[in-house]
Amino acid sequence: MSDEIDELIARVGPARVIDALAPMLSDERRARIDAVLAARLGSLTAIVEDTYDPHNAAAAVRTTEALGLAEFHAIAGPSGDRFATPKGITRGCHRWVELHRWPDVATAAAALRARGFRVIATVPAAAETIETLPVDAPLALAFGNEHDGLTPAAIAACDGAVSIPMFGFTQSFNLSVSVGLVMARLADRRRRVLGAPGDLAADRVVRLRARWYALKIKGAIDIVERVGDQTRSVVAPETRTRDIPGSR
Ligand SMILES: C[S@@+](CC[C@H](N)C(=O)[O-])C[C@H]1O[C@@H](n2cnc3c(N)ncnc32)[C@H](O)[C@@H]1O
Repeated sequence: MSDEIDELIARVGPARVIDALAPMLSDERRARIDAVLAARLGSLTAIVEDTYDPHNAAAAVRTTEALGLAEFHAIAGPSGDRFATPKGITRGCHRWVELHRWPDVATAAAALRARGFRVIATVPAAAETIETLPVDAPLALAFGNEHDGLTPAAIAACDGAVSIPMFGFTQSFNLSVSVGLVMARLADRRRRVLGAPGDLAADRVVRLRARWYALKIKGAIDIVERVGDQTRSVVAPETRTRDIPGSR
């Protein structure tokens, strides 16, 4: 889901956004952004079906961001989008996550599979567990809603199923608790396999850095446009002279 910051980055390039905004951030802020970028995982993500409770949707987004996952896939139901969560619930954390919206799990799964992900349903009765699931390739985990769990169609659209081991009388975990348990365990296992906390490609890191700088600074879009105008008016005449054959 792109917004005006993404459009700015696409139009002027991330380097220009970073150059214009970096002087306005303290060394500590830039170091913090770099540390979070270094620990961002792009190869593990969650797909969550529309929830009944917007607090569950918000908690799922917030948990995956806090675990350092780069993206989140929301299945918007006919009743509206509970993932368009108010700032008070997510504490604004959804801004730091790449939020994708899909009409159903099958469509989300097809798009992720095309990018090299294995798509796995989370089902309390599954024999494979989060301890035994192979984590040597990118993984997307699909979660069902609070009442019914994943639909049979959603489970059929996945490449396998996994459970969180349970030892009590209760038959399933709460949805957002499940997202936390599954994604925390698999993020830890995936980072161990990678031998690094993060795995984003260099160009994705640069684009995210530009985006996060812009999110941190009020009026960032105007600032980037103004700096660009000033640079063009200073640089353009010199560039033109150099381009004329035989000049200088
Ligand atoms: C409250 S549960 C739904 C329970 C539903 N009756 C079922 O059997 O799936 C909501 C979601 O949390 C996840 N979940 C809960 N407990 C789980 C477990 N032990 N193993 C795997 N996923 C679980 C699943 O994604 C499930 O769809």
